[in-house]
Amino acid sequence: MAQNHSVWTSIRFWRQSAAWVTGFAVVLLILLTFDTMGQITMGTDADLQKGITKRVPAPTVINYHIGYKFSEKRGHEVPVIGKKEPFFGKEWSPKEAAALLHKGKLTEQAKNCMDCHTLLGNGAYYAPDLTKAWIDPKWKSMMAMTGKKTREEAMAEFLQHPERYPTHARRMPNLKITPDEAKALVAFLKHMSSIDTNGFPRGFSKGVKEFEAGGTYAH
Ligand code: HEC
Repeated sequence: MAQNHSVWTSIRFWRQSAAWVTGFAVVLLILLTFDTMGQITMGTDADLQKGITKRVPAPTVINYHIGYKFSEKRGHEVPVIGKKEPFFGKEWSPKEAAALLHKGKLTEQAKNCMDCHTLLGNGAYYAPDLTKAWIDPKWKSMMAMTGKKTREEAMAEFLQHPERYPTHARRMPNLKITPDEAKALVAFLKHMSSIDTNGFPRGFSKGVKEFEAGGTYAH
């Protein structure tokens, strides 16, 4: 019997469509997963030496100046890995830098910084986001307050004795961070600030230009 069904009422059509759409989505998700893996895989020390900027640079990025510049194309600030600069007075080998960062990450977890802060958007909203804490212009005044000559030393001093250098209405408690832990945390935060986060957190770079132009920063 030749009955003229509309395609929209054909079960066969919907079954086939469902199969095609599911198949396409699976392929797309696999491709996107590989793309994401490529984007978030940590770069190498050789990349840094060749001036190749990876979204997540190698641990040895702590040996370089980290700046930001506005990209018209992307519509937000992007990291610029600049000239070499000493970090706690020396250049760190790939092995040393990786070990230091690892210790920093473990300390960050052990001391529960995310109970109060956010890192890459994760954590609590009690205290400032730490994703770009390294480039916070606050460290310029902190260098004066602590009498330290470099940003990393001022940060390490603040982390060990936050109660001595309050800059916000809310206070960070003394978490009994040792000098070695403080150094590692600063390395962890410096590395984190070099990650290309597509301009997150929004507007973070506002004070940075003043900081860079200020001239008091020793590096
Ligand atoms: C109990 C809550 C709390 C915990 C836990 C905590 N902080 Fe804080 N932190 C604060 C508050 C509040 C401030 C702002 C106070 C200030 O700057 O005087 C702050 C400020 C900071 C700053 C300065 C940020 C900026 O750019 O102004 C840094 C860096 C920092 N904390 C790092 C850490 C690290 C690293 C840890 C974990 C080892 C940690 N904090 C754990 C509450 C906390």
